[in-house]
Amino acid sequence: MYPGVWAAQPPAALPYPSRAAKPAREYERLDPRGAVAIVTGGASGLGAATAQALAERGATVVILDLPTSRGEQTAQSLPGDGHAFHPADVQDPEQVQAAVQAATARGPLRILVNCAGIGTPGKVVGRNGTPMPLPQFAKVVGVNLIGTFNVTRLTAAAMVTNEPTPDTGERGVIVNTASIAAFDGQIGQASYSASKGGIVGMTLPLARDLAASSIRVCTIAPGIFDTPLMNSAPENVKAVLAAGVPNPSRFGNPAEYAALALHIIENAYLNGEVIRLDGALRMPPR
Ligand SMILES: NC(=O)c1ccc[n+]([C@@H]2O[C@H](COP(=O)([O-])OP(=O)(O)OC[C@H]3O[C@@H](n4cnc5c(N)ncnc54)[C@H](O)[C@@H]3O)[C@@H](O)[C@H]2O)c1
Repeated sequence: MYPGVWAAQPPAALPYPSRAAKPAREYERLDPRGAVAIVTGGASGLGAATAQALAERGATVVILDLPTSRGEQTAQSLPGDGHAFHPADVQDPEQVQAAVQAATARGPLRILVNCAGIGTPGKVVGRNGTPMPLPQFAKVVGVNLIGTFNVTRLTAAAMVTNEPTPDTGERGVIVNTASIAAFDGQIGQASYSASKGGIVGMTLPLARDLAASSIRVCTIAPGIFDTPLMNSAPENVKAVLAAGVPNPSRFGNPAEYAALALHIIENAYLNGEVIRLDGALRMPPR
């Protein structure tokens, strides 16, 4: 594109495998057919919609969610065979390792979508003047950030042993879930925003760490989506929230999240990026 620049300064050897692009109009896609996918938080909301979309594309889905969740029912409801529910807490190394082993026993584990998350609101200093208890902050960061990293590291260690796919030459792809609260955190969201900001911050270094193994990492930062998490809010609060989304003025549909996750999985050139999915919403302070 800039022949003069390249001629003057040939690029140094890169630490990444370099592969020729395909002709225009064709592009490389990671085909989920025949691949195994772990979806954390897959029993509900955005994770359940993603599990459904992956199963429809022919992936074998392992739902990793809490034992108390509806993971078994969700796994049973997916189209196709071979799907499973593996109860685990994303923060627990042994439980997650067992889920990864259960996944690799089903075929090549090429896809991870991390959707498990919690949001416990609380101000740094409460109404009665008491500081937020430290365990409350640590719990949200523990599930959302450390849990996401825990599943990512154990899954990535399995992915690096995969044969590259014939179509894209990839070993795997990881999609993490942040939130627009990583950027526009509201009053009472210090712990949630910190946890999601950590997921945003580790996206590029994870993509760089795993580039030599041909594993991509991207993050979706959703706005407000119509899931059980949001549905618990009173109707009048939900109406105000929906009206605040510039266009379209409504909650996101979990299928729209799943569609973006699928696109990231299939588009071999998307890597190291955080994508907001929010109808142009920028959250006000409260
Ligand atoms: N719904 C939204 O508007 C919205 C907006 C921005 C970001 N997000 C993020 O998207 C993700 C999914 O949210 P959702 O709305 O689908 O929520 P949800 O509550 O419907 O689903 C979350 C799932 O995570 C599971 N989970 C919670 N803690 C876990 C743990 N320790 N180990 C394993 N599984 C655990 C739950 O059991 C549940 O099935 C979350 O990370 C959330 O922070 C949601």
